[in-house]
Amino acid sequence: MSATTLGETESESARASALLHALFSGSVTDPYPLYEELRELGDGIHWSDDMHAYAVFRYEDVRKIGSDPGLFSSDVFWQSPQSFHDPDNSEHRRFIEYNSRLFMFSDPPVHTRIRSIFRHAFTPQAIQAWRPLVEEVTAELLENYHVGDDIDIMPGFAADVPVALIAAILGVPKQKRSQFRAWSLAYALTFDPSVVGEARDQAITTTLELMDYLRELADERRAEPTDDLISLLVHTETTDGDHLQDVELLAQLTILLAAGNETTTSLIGNGLSILLDHPEARAELTADPSKLPTAIEEMLRYEAPLHFLFRKTTRETQLGDHVIPEGTVLLPSPGSANRDPRHFDNPDVFDISRPDNKHLTFFHGIHFCVGAPLARLEGAVVFEHLLKHYPDFSAGSEPALRTSHSNSPRTWKTRPVRL
Ligand code: HEM
Repeated sequence: MSATTLGETESESARASALLHALFSGSVTDPYPLYEELRELGDGIHWSDDMHAYAVFRYEDVRKIGSDPGLFSSDVFWQSPQSFHDPDNSEHRRFIEYNSRLFMFSDPPVHTRIRSIFRHAFTPQAIQAWRPLVEEVTAELLENYHVGDDIDIMPGFAADVPVALIAAILGVPKQKRSQFRAWSLAYALTFDPSVVGEARDQAITTTLELMDYLRELADERRAEPTDDLISLLVHTETTDGDHLQDVELLAQLTILLAAGNETTTSLIGNGLSILLDHPEARAELTADPSKLPTAIEEMLRYEAPLHFLFRKTTRETQLGDHVIPEGTVLLPSPGSANRDPRHFDNPDVFDISRPDNKHLTFFHGIHFCVGAPLARLEGAVVFEHLLKHYPDFSAGSEPALRTSHSNSPRTWKTRPVRL
């Protein structure tokens, strides 16, 4: 580590290292007590040897990182694809060609130009227009379940909703949807650095099939537009007055799957668990579902699906008491920021009427989640249906198991529930 740290004693630094190792080695299922300690040790910014990065725990520092994309670059993820991709393998090369175009991992001006094609897609009007589709997809999936069923909601309903919905919104025909789900799962695997060798080759081959399919769909919609999202995106000009190249467009279509699926699945699993733990809140929402939008906001704050994001400094900078060198990776933590008592009163209390709930779950600044309005709508519709059709749902007979790697989504391996 080459940064200079002011105001942190050696014992504080050793304690912080031990807590970070516990977080990133996957031995902790409840990270919040650790975040509480890490926020208060020194300036709340600590080096992780496991992640080769500074993890940032306080609300104001996390927000500051989102506010300054010139200083805190998003061009970090695909920087060294050679670490798990083979430049001599033509499929790997094609895959990287797509993924290096993802606007999520780009800075302005590339990010600004690509993101501008979404400006008509996730507006309040567009979201309202999708509501009937969200209702239909949710109701259709719930037809598979009956009152009294003892099921694990994670691999079933919670995972099915976002995939079925994004497929429907994009305009993937119904008969292709199960294939689409398999493709989406394979694409999600390519973001997991522990997927290597043959497993990675397989995930990439399947992802390229998804890309080829989306290319066909985009070509069809260019020739004959419908009212789906692909039609909208192929016909929206960027703010520079041009259209995205094919490869750029396909990359952005697939990132909608990667960014929106597991996160929304986590929201459903986390939200359901929170309601099981807070029967008064649940009774209030069952009696008055109009309170659901603020309750969903609180679920998002209380259990953020993503606890760490990635950034890289473009020049030496001071953050907290640290002077951080150029080119250093930072891990701002929305999971910790959302529980920072400097910003939220009683942050560990789940309060469905919390006023002014400016959580950082969708982050902050130019990369603020494009799909946030859709995720909020999905959350509201899903919980309205669950509370209405299964008002007495309770914990299932098998134990619920949490995931434990803080740098992967905060979610459940299994979340059994009796409907
Ligand atoms: C509860 C569900 C969700 C959560 C917690 C979430 C969280 C986030 C966060 C934290 C970011 C910022 C990442 C960064 O800057 O490093 C982000 C960006 C993004 N999200 Fe979401 N997301 C959710 C749902 C969705 C959905 C449903 C979609 C689309 C269908 C989506 C599409 C995107 C895209 C395309 C970006 C990149 C935006 C940019 O870089 O400008 N997300 N999301």
